[in-house]
Amino acid sequence: AEFDLIIVNGVVVTDTEVGEYDIAVKDEKIAKVVKRGELGDVRAARMIDAEGGYVMPGGVDGHVHLEEPPLFGKGSSADNFETGSRSAVCGGTTTMVPFAPQKKTEDTLLDTLSLTHAKAKDNCYIDYSFHLLVGNPSPRALSEFKTLREEGITSLKIYMTYEALKLNDSQILDVLLEARKNQITTMIHAENGDLIDWMTAQLEKRKMFAPRFHGPSHPPMAEIEATHRAICLSEFMDSPILIVHVSTPQATASIAAAQKRGIPIYAETCPQYLFLTSLDLAKPGFEGAKCVCSPPPRESEADCDAIWAGLADGTFTILSSDHCPFRYDDAVTGKKTCITDDYPEGHFKYIPNGIAGIETRLSLALGEERLKLTKFVELTATNPAKLYGLYPLKGGLVPGASDADINIWYPPGKMPKFELKNEMLHHNVDYTAFEGRTLKQWPRYTVLRGRVVWDREGGGLVGEKGYGRFVRREASSLARPRFEGEWDIKEDGSFGFF
Ligand code: URP
Ligand code: ZN
Ligand code: ZN
Ligand code: ZN
Repeated sequence: AEFDLIIVNGVVVTDTEVGEYDIAVKDEKIAKVVKRGELGDVRAARMIDAEGGYVMPGGVDGHVHLEEPPLFGKGSSADNFETGSRSAVCGGTTTMVPFAPQKKTEDTLLDTLSLTHAKAKDNCYIDYSFHLLVGNPSPRALSEFKTLREEGITSLKIYMTYEALKLNDSQILDVLLEARKNQITTMIHAENGDLIDWMTAQLEKRKMFAPRFHGPSHPPMAEIEATHRAICLSEFMDSPILIVHVSTPQATASIAAAQKRGIPIYAETCPQYLFLTSLDLAKPGFEGAKCVCSPPPRESEADCDAIWAGLADGTFTILSSDHCPFRYDDAVTGKKTCITDDYPEGHFKYIPNGIAGIETRLSLALGEERLKLTKFVELTATNPAKLYGLYPLKGGLVPGASDADINIWYPPGKMPKFELKNEMLHHNVDYTAFEGRTLKQWPRYTVLRGRVVWDREGGGLVGEKGYGRFVRREASSLARPRFEGEWDIKEDGSFGFF
């Protein structure tokens, strides 16, 4: 056959255009995108009739935690590379960028990288890269940035909070300087760790231990202050950053203001900040624990509305899942391990922070119909690919250049609405924080490098573990420094880029 796959009668959506096009795939790549009907009488090994459904680039999830040791409270990740990537593909995500976590006690990043490669290899259903999570920016670790770049790793994440990971400001400057030299993008978890610790102590003094007190223990000001500080440090070093999982209107506004001034500040948010509020955290008994993540779901709908607005107006560059899976009811690693003899009703500070959502990210956001279709594709596929140096290989439908990673959705109105239940999902987590939400959309087919890997009505998960492969990344095509030259101090004491 001339082509491996053709997709006809779709409404093709990219980050820039919505139109009636047919797509032909050959040797894992997008070969042709032509006006509906114009493929003519070609032969293909497989033909899919999209019946008017949206045809989009496969999802790219730029924020995923898999197989991590305990870092965010008790408990290690409930998903490994197999179960996490399985869950991803069943929800239309074809590329993910999980973390390779370096511990504070380790000196090198390269060992962390090889270890993570070994975990992922032959275990993934989808394509993947890694962000290095820098827990210890030792001189040796900093000297390894160059090798990371050569190995196709062009982003890293650092933390301003969490005992196990927190860097101080001079360590952050070290990282930003070295990252800039090597065209690496730095993701920052911006919450003020000391403020969080102080509030936690205040709550404990008052014997306020229930899951809902996770909210006040991570007040908006912790995020607002740290976001502002991260922007200042990034501007000082002229080193591009991506502020992850932004949750407050005020932090969103200060990011927008920095962007307006031309500073290379990028931002991410996640479905939890669009759909969950303090009401979810305050569910009776220990149920609220299911929604414990950091930053926490904020006070009210008005906060969610501000985050939706930031997606629509371009303040947010990407919409990621921050899939950070822990089990609710597990004697060994689960959320409930925070129930001890001392705290028979649990203690919020021991509930591992993070919720699972790699499978529901796309359907939740698309079904809400609050974003333009092109914006949806930009936020969930094209921009994550551009930001993390994967475009146009991933995140687009560019003939000759893009991998044939494609989602085919149901024609609008054709899929009966359904209530989300955890038992429908494919992760290794025993709950979803989005239980009971009404979904209007789900991918009907997902294609990865020309192969159908998800066929909702024809077997569901039809892809194979091990088909997913590591993708070497280029430097970001979005996040670039403003100035030429390297940062230095001259003899007269002036400093800058020379
Ligand atoms: O609560 C969260 N987000 N846990 C995951 C760790 C992180 O900071 O991304
Ligand atoms: Zn984080
Ligand atoms: Zn300032
Ligand atoms: Zn995270």
